[in-house]
Amino acid sequence: MVWLQGLSVALLGAGTVMAISLNVNDLDSLKNAAATSAFNMMSNYTGNQTGQIPGKLPGTWWEGGAMFMTLIQYWYLTGDDSYNDAVTQGMYFQRGNDDYFPSNYSQYLGNDDQVFWGLAAMTAAELNYPEQSGMPSWLSLAQGVFNTQAARWDTTTCNGGLRWQIWPYQDGYSTKNAISNGGFFQLAARLARYTNNETYTQWAEKVWDWSGTTPLLKESEWTIADTTNVNAQCQDHGDIQWTYNYGTYLSGAAYMYNLTDGAEKWKEGIDGLMNTTLREFFPSEYGGMVMSETACEGLMNCDRNQDCFKGFLSSWFAFMTTIVPYTYSEIIPRLQGSAVAAAKQCTGGANQTLCGRRWYQDTWDGTTSLEEAMSATSVFTSNLIIHQKNAAPFTHSTGGTSQSNPSAGTSDPKSSSSIATRPITAGDRAGASILTISFIGAWIGFVGWAIAGG
Ligand SMILES: *[C@@H]1O[C@H](CO)[C@@H](O)[C@H](O)[C@H]1NC(C)=O
Ligand SMILES: *[C@@H]1O[C@H](CO)[C@@H](O)[C@H](O)[C@H]1NC(C)=O
Ligand SMILES: *[C@@H]1O[C@H](CO)[C@@H](O)[C@H](O)[C@H]1NC(C)=O
Ligand SMILES: *[C@@H]1O[C@H](CO)[C@@H](O)[C@H](O)[C@H]1NC(C)=O
Ligand SMILES: *[C@@H]1O[C@H](CO)[C@@H](O)[C@H](O)[C@H]1NC(C)=O
Ligand SMILES: *[C@@H]1O[C@H](CO)[C@@H](O)[C@H](O)[C@H]1NC(C)=O
Ligand SMILES: *[C@@H]1O[C@H](CO)[C@@H](O)[C@H](O)[C@H]1NC(C)=O
Repeated sequence: MVWLQGLSVALLGAGTVMAISLNVNDLDSLKNAAATSAFNMMSNYTGNQTGQIPGKLPGTWWEGGAMFMTLIQYWYLTGDDSYNDAVTQGMYFQRGNDDYFPSNYSQYLGNDDQVFWGLAAMTAAELNYPEQSGMPSWLSLAQGVFNTQAARWDTTTCNGGLRWQIWPYQDGYSTKNAISNGGFFQLAARLARYTNNETYTQWAEKVWDWSGTTPLLKESEWTIADTTNVNAQCQDHGDIQWTYNYGTYLSGAAYMYNLTDGAEKWKEGIDGLMNTTLREFFPSEYGGMVMSETACEGLMNCDRNQDCFKGFLSSWFAFMTTIVPYTYSEIIPRLQGSAVAAAKQCTGGANQTLCGRRWYQDTWDGTTSLEEAMSATSVFTSNLIIHQKNAAPFTHSTGGTSQSNPSAGTSDPKSSSSIATRPITAGDRAGASILTISFIGAWIGFVGWAIAGG
């Protein structure tokens, strides 16, 4: 909080609009900006208060994991541990059976929801985030997510892939989507690099290669479709372009590139996806250096999930510069351009430090949310990567200390793959509206079954 007070005093003294002043080349300036946004984000977190549920944000479960992932990176790159108690508490509290599939929420979680917590645990392992004795290691929690997702790999349709939703009664069960498969790919790639265990390498290869047989990863053009449907043999495509979809595959390819000492397959993937990412999400109409969630910022209709995505691409980009050093010169100017732009955008609220979503717009766009504060925290934090020597994520052979438990999560009865991969019935084909209508009944039926099953 010292930084924050210093910033406020300086700006009050100047008698101007407070905003977040930012000099991207200055370490303290970046830390101040990150601290201000992190403070704003956490001022809306109540999960660590008496009577509340640690790690749970109102109306969403996955975002808790995303927020902790952001704060673990924040701690690593700023050295500020103000939020570590809240992060550690929430990360352990939501771990379920060591696989981030806690029974309160598991009935309606998608693979993408679960994988964000797995990626947060993986981040904690890679950055040597402190562990508590008597608790499972961060690495094992990431392995728990990996194991339960590998068991859901669905060869009954489209010769593979993860479905978006896990349960047949959920709308989205017939969809295979980029974030679920890209998230699982990235998790496998990071586990492979961290542990050097061949099983994870093979899975990363498998998820990437399978994605390449569908529009989820179109290698001829290096585009990523958001969704595809099992009823169309995974050849149709929902084409909305999202930063985080590109970020998951790009970052996973970066870990594989590093693990394989620069194999051509991964270099091609990185170069191709990088090309599309820079073209799509750094629009030339705003100078080409500022990240934009182009699918929804124009009409200002991003939902709370989508407001988080730019933050993920920011941090995945930042760590990518350490493990694929040749991307540094392309990425860093864009992280800097985005941070400078975001700081100008962050003039909302009584303190005039709350961020909107349109980083490319010089004046506050009138919106504030925990999610927008999260993305801003991430882009400011990500710029600190150039000030940190040897900032590359650790592995077991470079000082990573988190212990492996390859069988974590495998004893969780709730995450049985038998339901998720059972053959498609006529009911599934009848489509989404039917699923929605029958959802309540199926859900009650399922809960009855789950309770009966113990
Ligand atoms: C919850 O965490 C915040 C930091 O975000 C801290 O200021 C506050 O004291 C914590 N509250 C409790 C009850 O631990
Ligand atoms: C599950 O829900 C109960 C009841 O609301 C709550 O007390 C508990 O803390 C929740 N557990 C998790 C992991 O969210
Ligand atoms: C980038 O993509 C464009 C458009 O698809 C293509 O013309 C160009 O050759 C690509 N550049 C690289 C370096 O891949
Ligand atoms: C892999 O990452 C390390 C940093 O951990 C870096 O020094 C090395 O150059 C990277 N390998 C390749 C092939 O770029
Ligand atoms: C303004 O910032 C101060 C810390 O500098 C904080 O204590 C206060 O809660 C903030 N006010 C609002 C409305 O966010
Ligand atoms: C926190 O929530 C309040 C009330 O919903 C809102 O006014 C405020 O802008 C939020 N803070 C941030 C950082 O978004
Ligand atoms: C590698 O991972 C696989 C799959 O989780 C596991 O069965 C195996 O024991 C692991 N090997 C080592 C050496 O940890």
